[in-house]
Amino acid sequence: MSTPTDRPAPGSTLLDVRALHKVYPGADGGTEAIRDLTFEVRAGEMVCIVGPSGAGKTTLLRCISGLLAPSSGQVVLEGTAISGPPKGMAVVFQEYARSLFPWLTVAQNVELPLKEKGLGKAERKRLVATALDAVGLADVPASYPWQLSGGMQQRVAIARAVAYEPHILLMDEPFAAVDAQTRADLEDLVRALWHRLGVTVLFVTHDIDESIYLGQRVLVLSGRPTVILEDVTVNLPDERDQLTTRNDPEFARLRAHIYDLVQKAKRGYRPGDDVFVPAAGARGDLPPTVGDGPYAGLAGA
Ligand SMILES: Nc1ncnc2c1ncn2[C@@H]1O[C@H](COP(=O)(O)OP(=O)(O)OP(=O)(O)O)[C@@H](O)[C@H]1O
Ligand SMILES: [Mg+2]
Repeated sequence: MSTPTDRPAPGSTLLDVRALHKVYPGADGGTEAIRDLTFEVRAGEMVCIVGPSGAGKTTLLRCISGLLAPSSGQVVLEGTAISGPPKGMAVVFQEYARSLFPWLTVAQNVELPLKEKGLGKAERKRLVATALDAVGLADVPASYPWQLSGGMQQRVAIARAVAYEPHILLMDEPFAAVDAQTRADLEDLVRALWHRLGVTVLFVTHDIDESIYLGQRVLVLSGRPTVILEDVTVNLPDERDQLTTRNDPEFARLRAHIYDLVQKAKRGYRPGDDVFVPAAGARGDLPPTVGDGPYAGLAGA
């Protein structure tokens, strides 16, 4: 495993997804989750991915993390084609309750991957302490995950990923199960860690506002079998905060644009469709104004 000192040069291509295609085998030809995905992520970038439920976002992350073999195409990380879980990558999943070991303390949970990485005891101790401090959990190393709130447990999962000193961090809807205030805090935590560590982040979310708030780019995926509908550049100042950034007119413009794309995706639109006829009765052009669903951030837009 490489160390932070041999991080890829900022701006160089870190992740290269080439003509990725994935079919889950099964009756009637199986389930084609990914039709054709090609994109690059540069070192140090924060890229978010949004798309309808069932589009293939988790499938994509599983292919990138080497947990799932593509049917065709390639994932190349730091110049090497992935054929299994690669070194230099950490993953944070949505379900913190299942991702932490209940019989290990907070510190032991964070330390475990470092043992597998073969680091010495003193170095492990230093990395665990630094990571817990970075996520604001320096005072609970001896607690067990089940003694913590949901937001704290997710911070343990983030600390574990950060302590590993990955070159790339994959996050699959990591904040979907926490309340709105905790979610905002965790978003700011991810931005802060990203700035501090220079790690490359690929972040899947259902929340359009979250994707804009966090990302430098937002990849909008079509419905299954998925392709990229648009690679949207987020032209917002690098310094972001929950009030100012979300009130920026450019934020509102991006929200409307991405919302429109996701609505089209949900109605079956695909690039290359010459004439797109929305489903009868579809009201996709009107954002919802209430509720706590995936587009709750649109309320009051
Ligand atoms: N292990 C599997 N075997 C067969 N089909 C699967 C498997 N995992 C996912 N699928 C199918 O592949 C498609 C994409 O699933 P995936 O979980 O990647 O979607 P997603 O975009 O992450 O959805 P969500 O936003 O709801 O998390 C779905 O139709 C799903 O039913
Ligand atoms: Mg998913």
